[in-house]
Amino acid sequence: MEIIDSEPDLKNRIYNLKNAGKVIGFVPTMGNLHEGHISLIEIALNKADIVVCSIYVNPTQFNDKNDFELYPKSLSKDLKLLKKSGCNIVFTPVNNTIYPYGVRHIEYDIGNLGSVMEGKYRKGHFNGVIQVVKRLFDIVKPDVAVFGKKDFQQLAVIRWLVGHFNLDVKIIGAPIIRDPDGVAMSSRNSRLSKSEREIAKNLSKSLIYIRDNYKKIHILKLKINAYEQLNKVKNLELEYLEVADMSTLQLVSEIDFERPTGVFVAAKIGQIRLIDNVGLF
Ligand code: PAJ
Repeated sequence: MEIIDSEPDLKNRIYNLKNAGKVIGFVPTMGNLHEGHISLIEIALNKADIVVCSIYVNPTQFNDKNDFELYPKSLSKDLKLLKKSGCNIVFTPVNNTIYPYGVRHIEYDIGNLGSVMEGKYRKGHFNGVIQVVKRLFDIVKPDVAVFGKKDFQQLAVIRWLVGHFNLDVKIIGAPIIRDPDGVAMSSRNSRLSKSEREIAKNLSKSLIYIRDNYKKIHILKLKINAYEQLNKVKNLELEYLEVADMSTLQLVSEIDFERPTGVFVAAKIGQIRLIDNVGLF
């Protein structure tokens, strides 16, 4: 496995690989890797000859300074996991490489995606994600890139980015990997205390409750029940629990069985913000 931190070195390497007819797969990450990330590498390895994984904690996508500064880092462990997974190249850029003209914020009009759920509660977050992923795509020039459905709205934003800039990259959405207790794996989980971890289980439980009952009970009633349940949990601050069309992310109050529909939740447990979602059908 090669570890490359310079833009010209990586571009050169990719140029040669592409000339040799290799299909390039790409998995962007912010490090502190877990099995969820590794599952994306495995999918990319199935779709491409060479897999590049980037590790870069992108400052422009954090709207909470504390969250950025406390974002867990574990580079040597990450590199071990990546090596074991079969990943071929790890790209570890520094700020100057990604933002050669300085870290500044660019705004994109992503319509509805920017105003519901994550777009509403993390103002500017997706602008930062678009900025960094666009830049990473420009450097890596992948044929295929894999993103997790754990960040379902982010995946929709990436599809918007590819369409908007007319990029020649195939985007693949990967299933959510969970711990045995149902909690979706997340780099931020490593900051949860033991009792906070117990509290975190309520998020996936509320999603499963809705998934198991939407055929019998009206979706709005289920939402109210889940809200009440979550609001009762001490030290859990619910931000949203929404039902949305999974292709447009428009919020819905009635289920249209012709459209893929999902339930999305975000909450703060202590200082740590977690999100999760589940497709109903
Ligand atoms: P990060 O949170 O490190 O996630 C990297 C990728 O791993 C994302 O596509 C995310 O959806 C996926 N992922 C995380 N947890 C997962 C899980 N439990 N199951 C499946 N996939 C999971 O998302 C980002 O970084 C950044 O926003 C990034 C795209 C790298 C841009 O900075």
